[in-house]
Amino acid sequence: MTVHVVADTVTKLSTLRAMLERQHAVTSELLSGASNRCSGSDAVVVTADLGVVENIAALKEVFGKLSHVRKRIFLIDQKARLFTVQAYALGATRVLINPVNQANLLAQLADSTPCETGSIDALHGASEAATEGAIAIGSMFSAVLSGKPVDVRSAKGAGSRIADNIAEDGLSSWLETVRRHHEGTYQHCLLVTGIAVDFGLSLGLAKPDMERLYSAAMFHDIGKAKIPLAVLDKPGRLDAQERALIETHPAAGYEVLKRISGISLEVLDAVRHHHEYLDGSGYPDALCAASISDIVRILTISDIFAALIEHRHYKPTMPREQAYEIIRSMHGKLEMPLVAAFRDVALNR
Ligand SMILES: [Fe+2]
Ligand SMILES: [Fe+2]
Repeated sequence: MTVHVVADTVTKLSTLRAMLERQHAVTSELLSGASNRCSGSDAVVVTADLGVVENIAALKEVFGKLSHVRKRIFLIDQKARLFTVQAYALGATRVLINPVNQANLLAQLADSTPCETGSIDALHGASEAATEGAIAIGSMFSAVLSGKPVDVRSAKGAGSRIADNIAEDGLSSWLETVRRHHEGTYQHCLLVTGIAVDFGLSLGLAKPDMERLYSAAMFHDIGKAKIPLAVLDKPGRLDAQERALIETHPAAGYEVLKRISGISLEVLDAVRHHHEYLDGSGYPDALCAASISDIVRILTISDIFAALIEHRHYKPTMPREQAYEIIRSMHGKLEMPLVAAFRDVALNR
């Protein structure tokens, strides 16, 4: 494979070259300097400070010329998490957080490209909708972190694109694209939206209900913007204090969104109550069945399923069959006729 490396400093450039040269043919360029760009590159790896305006302009130019390259990996510094959004806006297909280890980077490069399975057009459409969704979700998180207003219209627009994509190409191509190209909370929100949309379609929901459902799914975990990444992305079990912190996210999301016009009461309700269970054992309000709406019930099942099947670097991916069995075992907590209807979405669609 030929890998083209792009960096904003000589040190970063040579470090990356050294990592890759043992296994790949490497070409490289310094953002401010001369390029020995190879037109036949199979992948591009970028490491640059995305907070610098000149770097963004230079990267746009680079990608204008390398638009045919389907694998575009960006390395982002740990402290510059907000620039993940910028990376996706520039066309990243994968973002890794620095310091990245050599084995992980090589594994990402070796991971099969989106063109290898399924129809290229379907995956490309899914990939674009996923990128748009990731940008919208990233922008929402940035807005919450910096106290700026949340852009409701682009989030709903991205939700609608996802719905169109799934109606056309099905859930499987969506799951595959999202799990391959997005990580952490972005991946989770995109998966929940896709699964909820497909579940809604299979139930024959009317258009206004579908709009409520995908908006609720896009926004449902926005309160996680207030939770430190160390807790959010912690591998393994959380202690009681960390769990209590995580459990603040539905109410935190509700507080953020209730001040914004354009968010309906049903969506607000879904954001606040997507962790409630019919038997009253959920949070934050320990609601009982009669107070939990249909949209919330659909969203909760989609949310649990997405959390079970998502790709995390520290655990093996759970097969869809096994995830569905777990959902089926949650008697008393989830609505069983809905769980039965979900079977087709979980296993076949
Ligand atoms: Fe949640
Ligand atoms: Fe969630």
